[in-house]
Parts: sequence; C-alpha cells; structure tokens
Amino acid sequence: MNQAEELTVLTLEKKPDFVETPYIHGITGKALDYIRAGYPVHFSGPAGTGKTALAMHVAAQLGRQVILIHGDDEFGSSDLIGGQTGYRSTKVIDNYIHSVLKQEESVSKQWVDNRLTTACKYGFTLIYDEFTRSRPEANNVLLSILEERLLELPDVRLGDGYLQVHPEFSAIFTSNPEEYAGVHKTQDALMDRMITVKLGHHDFETEVAITQAKSGLDWKQAKAIVDIVREFRALGVNNARPTIRACIMLGRIVAGRGGVVSAIDPAFRELCHDVLNADCVKVTHEGQALGLERLDEIMMRCCPPQSPPVRVVATTDGTASPALQRVK
Ligand SMILES: Nc1ncnc2c1ncn2[C@@H]1O[C@H](COP(=O)(O)OP(=O)(O)OP(=O)(O)O)[C@@H](O)[C@H]1O
Ligand SMILES: [Mg+2]
Repeated sequence: MNQAEELTVLTLEKKPDFVETPYIHGITGKALDYIRAGYPVHFSGPAGTGKTALAMHVAAQLGRQVILIHGDDEFGSSDLIGGQTGYRSTKVIDNYIHSVLKQEESVSKQWVDNRLTTACKYGFTLIYDEFTRSRPEANNVLLSILEERLLELPDVRLGDGYLQVHPEFSAIFTSNPEEYAGVHKTQDALMDRMITVKLGHHDFETEVAITQAKSGLDWKQAKAIVDIVREFRALGVNNARPTIRACIMLGRIVAGRGGVVSAIDPAFRELCHDVLNADCVKVTHEGQALGLERLDEIMMRCCPPQSPPVRVVATTDGTASPALQRVK
C-alpha cells in the first residue's frame, strides 16, 4: 500500500463502551454468518437505530482492516474506484497585439486508486455508510464486485481492465429507508445482491445499557431517562424520534454536571425541554401545541418526585432506631 492508501484504511477494535445485549448479539451474530457465507449485509433502519455502530462492530469482529465510505450525491464512480490524475499546466501568452499563443501541456498522467479499489485489492472490509445518498450510476460499479467479484477499471495498466477482488473482501452497507431528502432509490440489482437486515429502535434493555455505558449514570437514572424518551417516542408523531441519541445527550449532561433525573428538578426539566424541543413541535391537539405539556406529564410519570429523604433517629441507648422518621 502506498502512503495515500494507508491514510484511508482503519483498524477497528471493539469499542469499550459498545453494548452487547442479547438483542445486539442476535443481530451481529446473524450478520457475521451472512458475511462469512460470502454475502454483503445491509443494515436498514431509521435514524438512531444503531446502523453505523453495528456496521463498525461487525467489521471489527471480521478482523480485517476497514475502508469507510460515506454516500454522497456528488460521487461519480471515480470517487469510489479512482481515476487518472496528473500534472497539467496551462500557459497562455497574449501579446496584446494580434496573436494569442495558448500552450497546454499534460505531464505524467497516472492512475490513483480510490477507496473501493483499495478495499477490493487488499481484501479489506468495506463499510459503505448511507450508500443511498450516492447516485445509482456511481454505485453501479458494485454490481460486478458483489456478484462476479470483478472490479471493472477504466484503465489500461491492468491489461484487460479488470481487477480480481481479493477473497477476504466483504462489504457492509447502511441506509435509512425513511429519509426522503438527499437520497436516491437504489437499483433492484444492487439490493438483490445483499442481505438487508431491517432495524428498529433497540429494545428497552439495550437502550438503558447504552445510556448507562455512554453517560456513566447508574441503572435507575438511565432507566428513567429511557422511560421518558420511549414514552415520548410512542406518541408517534415525529418519524420514530426521539432516538437513543436523546437518551445519550440527557444522560451525559446530567452526569457531567452532577445533576439528578427528577421531574421536579428545574435544571432537569429545562434540559429535557431543550433536548426534546424539536420533537415536540408536531404534538398538537385541535391546533394547539401540546408538546411540552405532554413531556411534563411523561416526566412526572417516569421520574416522579422522590419521597422526602429519611433520617435514622438515634435512640437514647445510642443505637439506631429501627423506626425511621420523615424529615420535615
Ligand atoms: N450497541 C451499542 N453500544 C453503544 N452505543 C451504541 C450502540 N448502538 C448505537 N449506539 C450509539 O447510539 C447512537 C446512534 O447510533 P448510530 O449512529 O449507529 O445510529 P444510525 O442508525 O447510524 O443513525 P443515523 O441514521 O442517524 O446515522 C450513537 O451515539 C452510537 O454510538
Ligand atoms: Mg449512521
């Protein structure tokens, strides 16, 4: 590999805060089975369902180096496979009188591989995140890679213009089928070559575990946050939002400032309003915005005011009384 190729290659290891509950285990297990059987896997689901995190985790388990590509509307196939580059200088001499001399020279054109070619050549794992953001024409090059395991290169240096794909090459795709802005419909032929694993939001246990792992809060506080977010999501007004990202935001901010998860804590209430504001907009009743009101009700249910703290009252013989008294 040359230096430029090395710069684009990742070595992924299992992240210490990656949560593996039975739910996650089930998905990664089957994805690994499919990939080891030679099939590309496609994680498809709404925002925040863990597609990218899962793709990275599965790729780390495969133990090969990783090439990461993010789908982009501007991509042409050369952005994936590479193209001719070289030094080109244009010199214009104009003597202002009657002639213009235009001199153009092109020096040492050379082919430079792009990331997909590098992955195919060395047998790396390709993660093509949000691949439906690229135009189908740009992605066409994947058809023969995935089926015939041949990469067609518009380049004479390889004789016949084909590169045999390395046997260890594998591919993981992600996309969000609910996104309508900036995505393209994918050609059936490409979808037909991959196994699509549909993802929804993580189960309750996983959301609590992720919130805990990413914030450091205890289980009870993480659970209360997840309860709020899941109940709010269940109102079903905003494209399956809020997502696990809202849980992580709330958890991290509470933990960072040493706060509490409580409906009567003004700082926590304000934080919830800020984090979930965007998702409140569509909660209306007879034209009236009801989002924040609903949110307050949900908070009261999920993290009600704690019972007042209790104090152990010392008895006359100096031992702690078994009877506890409420602090006034
Ligand atoms: N198993 C997990 N363990 C720890 N964190 C996770 C796990 N799954 C998801 N996350 C975290 O949840 C958040 C959302 O996950 P991710 O970015 O993978 O979602 P996505 O489906 O790719 O969303 P988008 O469509 O918006 O790109 C991230 O902060 C990610 O780190
Ligand atoms: Mg993603």
